[in-house]
Amino acid sequence: MLDGRVAIVTGGARGLGQEYSVALAKNGAKIVVADILPGDTTVAKVAQAGSEAIAIKTDVSSETATRAMAEEALRRFGRIDVLVNNAADLGRWVAFDKITEAEWDRVMAINVKGIWNCCKAVVPAMKRQGKGKIINVSSGTIWMGTPLYLHYVASKGAVFAMTRSLARELGGDGINVNTLTPGYTMTEAATSLGDKESVELVKRELLNLQAIKRNEQPADLAPMVVFLASDGSDFITGQAFNVDGGGALH
Ligand SMILES: NC(=O)c1ccc[n+]([C@@H]2O[C@H](COP(=O)([O-])OP(=O)(O)OC[C@H]3O[C@@H](n4cnc5c(N)ncnc54)[C@H](O)[C@@H]3O)[C@@H](O)[C@H]2O)c1
Repeated sequence: MLDGRVAIVTGGARGLGQEYSVALAKNGAKIVVADILPGDTTVAKVAQAGSEAIAIKTDVSSETATRAMAEEALRRFGRIDVLVNNAADLGRWVAFDKITEAEWDRVMAINVKGIWNCCKAVVPAMKRQGKGKIINVSSGTIWMGTPLYLHYVASKGAVFAMTRSLARELGGDGINVNTLTPGYTMTEAATSLGDKESVELVKRELLNLQAIKRNEQPADLAPMVVFLASDGSDFITGQAFNVDGGGALH
């Protein structure tokens, strides 16, 4: 489905980004793993899945680094078809008035400015190709009024709003921009946001809400990313896709 396509997955070194990288690779895409962490494990998993990947050390909050990421991707693979803006700082669960200014600024720099930087870096190539797919990872927290997480929720609300505006700016160039809002998904990062008791409490509360009575796993999200990266989504843009077992209905 994605043979010959090249996908950049930011934050692809672990967690959901790794899952998306492998799923895109299984469908034929070559992968660029852009992360502050080493991407070797993901590169190896992509090779096992029968495709090819490179890892480029990238801090998405830096304009210079994201420009270098796009240049290196083009040098190695010649094109950029898909950008999965997945990198984020997940912050921590904390009362809104206990968030430090440094935490607030870091979350905004990575989660919001990072997406702007990556879009600026790849859009020229997508425009030249006359086609491109941008998938911005937001969060189901934006539908839920999630308390004790204001810096993160604000950043993910911005991702949702940026997606709509960018979709209108780039639609004429054949570039689709959509957002994914995952529910609380069992990655190491997500299950370390609070102490063990709080994590179990949140899992139980979400299960009560969800129509589908099990906790969300990374594999639940990957098919939506593959679909949004594929030609099947050519007439879909500016939309938010909520994958959370029916927790938030909107
Ligand atoms: N797991 C969940 O419950 C959940 C729910 C909703 C949304 N999300 C979103 O899904 C995405 C992945 O979450 P995850 O659970 O896999 O977390 P994770 O921490 O495992 O993944 C985030 C990745 O981003 C990378 N990263 C952090 N700062 C970076 C920077 N400045 N530049 C480049 N890379 C950077 C990290 O190194 C990591 O590999 C995030 O956008 C997160 O907000 C997760």
